[in-house]
Amino acid sequence: MSQGKAFLTRPHERHRDSFVEAVYEYIREKRTVNWHPEILRERFDEYLRVLRQAETDPLAGMVPATQLWLVADGHGYIGDVDVRHRLNQSLRRFGGHIGYKIRPSCRRRGYGTLICRLGIAHARWLGIGDILITCDDDNLGSAKVIEANGGVLQDRIDNQRGVLTRRYWVRA
Ligand SMILES: CC(C)(COP(=O)(O)OP(=O)(O)OC[C@H]1O[C@@H](n2cnc3c(N)ncnc32)[C@H](O)[C@@H]1OP(=O)(O)O)[C@@H](O)C(=O)NCCC(=O)NCCS
Repeated sequence: MSQGKAFLTRPHERHRDSFVEAVYEYIREKRTVNWHPEILRERFDEYLRVLRQAETDPLAGMVPATQLWLVADGHGYIGDVDVRHRLNQSLRRFGGHIGYKIRPSCRRRGYGTLICRLGIAHARWLGIGDILITCDDDNLGSAKVIEANGGVLQDRIDNQRGVLTRRYWVRA
């Protein structure tokens, strides 16, 4: 699969099967997922509605956020990025404007660096100036992704998670 053909798109029914397979991969690496993959498969429309609602009418305590999927023709879902339209107190400490993940079977091929770059471009399109991106201090892959995209380390803070949180800014 060539990286050049991967692009960001809104979550869509046509990528349902590859997304469900990826959720199984996330579960195998012990990542928390919000929906069981088989429920997701059956009620995919509802899942898409929940994502759309998060953009304009978020749940209490959440800020509006857009989720986009990195996909490639003939392959489907590779990863996703959440772009939060603004920060709240909690996101300023952990989470930031942009969060991303690449399905385990597609890692270490440059897609992490690409999805972060495209997520930053989307944040710019939304009018966000300085962009905060955070990662765990021991998440070497993510730190490299952020630094490759111009992130400048501000500090490492203790969020009582057993590992410090790195806070990077990509300046406007
Ligand atoms: C972090 C993550 C997005 C990286 O995705 P990826 O597709 O592997 O990233 P890339 O292929 O673009 O790799 C970028 C760099 O990080 C390195 N890297 C990737 N994973 C690594 C790891 N586990 N340990 C050390 N280095 C790693 C790559 O070798 C590459 O280095 P290089 O630029 O020197 O060649 C992916 O591991 C992931 O989804 N992790 C789980 C979710 C997560 O942690 N998200 C980030 C939250 S802040």
